[in-house]
Amino acid sequence: MSDKLDFVVNGRAVSVTCDGTVPLLTVLRDELGLRGTKFGCGTEQCGACMVLIDGKPEFSCSREAATVTGRSVTTVEGLSNGGALHALQQAFLDEQAGQCGYCLSGILISASALLARNSKPSRAEIVMALDPHLCRCGIHNRVVRAVQKAGDLMAAGAQP
Ligand code: FES
Ligand code: FES
Repeated sequence: MSDKLDFVVNGRAVSVTCDGTVPLLTVLRDELGLRGTKFGCGTEQCGACMVLIDGKPEFSCSREAATVTGRSVTTVEGLSNGGALHALQQAFLDEQAGQCGYCLSGILISASALLARNSKPSRAEIVMALDPHLCRCGIHNRVVRAVQKAGDLMAAGAQP
């Protein structure tokens, strides 16, 4: 089956002809070359595949690609603006909030949605927003510090 999917990815209109029942993650990685978004469990259990759809964090591993027709998708590649890092990316670097990094693109996506609505989240709010994400490397405390630091950087005028 072949469907024509027209949607926006990271601010750019794209048109993909493919089986619309395949996972959105497959289209992002294999058709559009956006490999920042990761495959982990494939069953909405780990958060490695998280993207924003119309600004809301959604799993891309289990979602049929055709469901994003006419909608706006943001992947981790879309967080930076030109050469400028998103405040989250800078804060994660500053806090060394990563080990293997496999979970990070999904975490950055969910954290960006949190900071877009609340630039001063409490620890509890950060933990709740990142609840769908698993990290095998045990970086949780550094991640919380980095998200809080990103909120501070944004308040100081850094790239949102
Ligand atoms: S790969 Fe989608 S939630 Fe794990
Ligand atoms: S940094 Fe390795 S899984 Fe999170």
